[in-house]
Amino acid sequence: MTTSLTSPIRWPAEALWEALAPSLPGFTVEVLPEIDSSNTELMRRFRGSPGVAPRPEPLLLVAEQQTAGRGRLGRSWQSRRGDSLTFSLGLPLQPADWSGLSLVAGISVAESLEPLIPGQTSKPRIGLKWPNDLWLSTPEGERKLAGILVETASWEGVRYVVIGIGINIRTVEIPAAALPSAAPAMPAIPPGALQALLPALDAPATLLRIVPPLVQAVQAFERFGFAPFQPRFVARDVLAGRTVQLYDGQNDLEGTAHGVGENGALLVHTPAGMKQITSSEVSVRPVAAPSEKGTRPC
Ligand code: BTN
Repeated sequence: MTTSLTSPIRWPAEALWEALAPSLPGFTVEVLPEIDSSNTELMRRFRGSPGVAPRPEPLLLVAEQQTAGRGRLGRSWQSRRGDSLTFSLGLPLQPADWSGLSLVAGISVAESLEPLIPGQTSKPRIGLKWPNDLWLSTPEGERKLAGILVETASWEGVRYVVIGIGINIRTVEIPAAALPSAAPAMPAIPPGALQALLPALDAPATLLRIVPPLVQAVQAFERFGFAPFQPRFVARDVLAGRTVQLYDGQNDLEGTAHGVGENGALLVHTPAGMKQITSSEVSVRPVAAPSEKGTRPC
């Protein structure tokens, strides 16, 4: 299934509204042909502006095209109409502890796209890279399939969360110069594409498949926290047992990744002992093994 750059995209807005309105009072779905960033737009609406009241209602905002898509650590998120699915889900949320929410979103999306079969011993092809990436394993190696950007804001005691998700649906030819390189010395590699795994899924079908379970997962997280999700993360943890390099903008640290704790913190065994990495401001990269061609998703 292909979508040209201009042909209308038929989004399942009504089906999503029908599926979600009962559990999310006041829920609406909106599709915009173009916006700077769906996360930025939901934050603007939540905060309001002079003369415009803040809107803390649950809202799913799909952006067919983003002109200033944002990723973690101040990075940009590149996407092209029809080739990617870019949307943000905003809703009021009051968990006792916020730790692990972006992991829960990743678990939910990965499971919706590639459910684990009971008794499955082989590794799933969609893996999770702490804290917010979905990686696809391909014959050419690991490729970044999707990224998640979770942001929160408060106003008059209402805490609002925006969960922004970008999924590469089909392969796009991105000029090498525009690709982020994993490290200065490493060549950049292209992102993965969902249609390599699920050829029949286009952006609207993907949205309909992942959003209802995502809302359920976020509501379960609000009630029970991250701990019940921990084994589900472990089943897809692509960093476990690998040497990783951590960088917080000032200091580099190397160690071996040992999964995540019950609070969603990344556990890394370093020469100075076991460290719990909780900050979303830390960049985490697996260190290339000699056989790994020296490239990896960023
Ligand atoms: C990352 O990989 O660092 C996170 C990428 C998140 C991208 C999505 S696309 C929809 C939403 N709007 C944005 O500007 N960013 C998120």
